[in-house]
Amino acid sequence: MKNKSKNKNILILGGSGFIGSNFLNYALGQGNNSDNNDFSSSKLQHRIIAPDHKELDILNVGQLSDIFKDLSPEIVINFAAHRDANSAELQRGDMQGSAWLTNVKGVENLSKICKEYDSFLIHISTDMVFSGLKNNPGPYSEKTKPEEKAEKLSWYGWTKAEGERVLKYNASAIIRVGNVTQALYDLKLDYVGKILYLFDANKLYPLFNDQYLSLTYIPSIFKVIETLIRKKIKGVFHVASRNIFTPYELGEYLIKKMKSKTGAIKGVSMGGYLRIAPHRYPQYGGLLAEETSKLLGVKLLDWQQIIDVFVEKMGAIPNA
Ligand SMILES: NC(=O)c1ccc[n+]([C@@H]2O[C@H](COP(=O)([O-])OP(=O)(O)OC[C@H]3O[C@@H](n4cnc5c(N)ncnc54)[C@H](OP(=O)(O)O)[C@@H]3O)[C@@H](O)[C@H]2O)c1
Repeated sequence: MKNKSKNKNILILGGSGFIGSNFLNYALGQGNNSDNNDFSSSKLQHRIIAPDHKELDILNVGQLSDIFKDLSPEIVINFAAHRDANSAELQRGDMQGSAWLTNVKGVENLSKICKEYDSFLIHISTDMVFSGLKNNPGPYSEKTKPEEKAEKLSWYGWTKAEGERVLKYNASAIIRVGNVTQALYDLKLDYVGKILYLFDANKLYPLFNDQYLSLTYIPSIFKVIETLIRKKIKGVFHVASRNIFTPYELGEYLIKKMKSKTGAIKGVSMGGYLRIAPHRYPQYGGLLAEETSKLLGVKLLDWQQIIDVFVEKMGAIPNA
């Protein structure tokens, strides 16, 4: 341990990204999120430092070393990732590609320096570390080990699985999420928002009617992070809906609620798609979050309840 008199600093990586930027709004009490009232950096008496990618690259050991020397952060939250699964797939097998480097090498760098400075690392991961194959189906609990064969996962999922393994759970917590949503954020990046956005643009493709997933409500991720900041519990945590959906039934439910239309969504089986790209998407996926809910006191919601909140909030946005 380099610094025994630890500062109350929280260092955030990937704070300009989709989830990270919204966490910053939440933590700093900004934004239009009514769920954020009971969290503020001042209540926690922490100082939040969120350098952007240019200021701090997790692949740059010198930059990491300088900032840790300066801040000796008590908590480090890693939202930084190569998250675009399509571009990651083009890098399959390439250990010099940005997906491998960011999701594995960068995480290893963070893990090492957090150990050196005794910083508690909270790392964000994904449901894509599980295959979702019929012979090993989800929903997966917090205790399930990530897939150990690269050929059973997308390249993105494989790099995230390897990223979890390099952490070795030393002074760290892993939070797995998947299909994240919360109205008010960028609709195109939001799992539910994207369906609505494409529907409104008349560009919605048929949705899978035999893929099984869970939905993650973004404010629940923030609650988990907030509790982990306070309690520093090591281990693996899941943030997911209490039940499983197919994209088709979720789309139908959303459009019925938003537009009072039924039968507006086309469904399609994954079958043909899986023959071309067998491991790009999990079919029988999803996360179970009961252990996390019990341990951290985070309320579990059904996916329909998450959509109901989404619809209610969208209704409150002018011109939505
Ligand atoms: N969004 C989802 O649907 C979803 C679902 C499941 C899991 N997750 C996980 O949640 C986490 C956050 O995802 P997100 O959707 O917020 O991702 P995102 O929008 O793509 O943001 C990623 C962030 O990481 C930064 N970054 C990339 N490489 C970096 C590096 N080498 N050093 C420092 N910063 C770097 C990016 O900065 P620049 O843009 O400036 O490069 C950006 O701020 C990831 O771990 C992801 O795997 C997300």
